Amino acid sequence: MREIDWAALHAAAVSAATKAYTPYSGFPVGAAALVDDGRLITGANIENAAYGVTLCAECSLVSELIMGGGGRLVAFACVNGAGERLMPCGRCRQLLFEHAAPEMLLDTVSGIRTIDQVLPDAFGPRQLEDYAARRDTAGRGEEANG
Ligand code: THU
Repeated sequence: MREIDWAALHAAAVSAATKAYTPYSGFPVGAAALVDDGRLITGANIENAAYGVTLCAECSLVSELIMGGGGRLVAFACVNGAGERLMPCGRCRQLLFEHAAPEMLLDTVSGIRTIDQVLPDAFGPRQLEDYAARRDTAGRGEEANG
């Protein structure tokens, strides 16, 4: 696995947090990630008067990932407005999991962790694919019998 420049990722997350739009919580969040093609992407939280519609920093980071051509997340860092490490919320762990490279690493409050450690036994695309494959196989069986 490639060497991760955690200091650079942390600095990018700190810089991203300065772009946050947080008139309601006053709690800026910045996120940064290394993509498997070498891109460094960032995101910040974007709040809304309808509080529940708020976009977490990870949401804008994943938008940048996809709009920039896609790819897999290799390493991730997230900070608050004081530059302190922050754990991605549960919903955002799910968001990150969808786009994670195998063994994706996160700079967390308890050290460097893999995506599987922060979201064990995750639900993901695999469950949908496995189910669809079984359903299609069963469908063919019925046709053969009928
Ligand atoms: N927030 C994030 O951007 N990411 C997280 O993983 C945790 C929470 C934001 C959402 C809201 O704008 C603010 O932090 C306070 O909850």
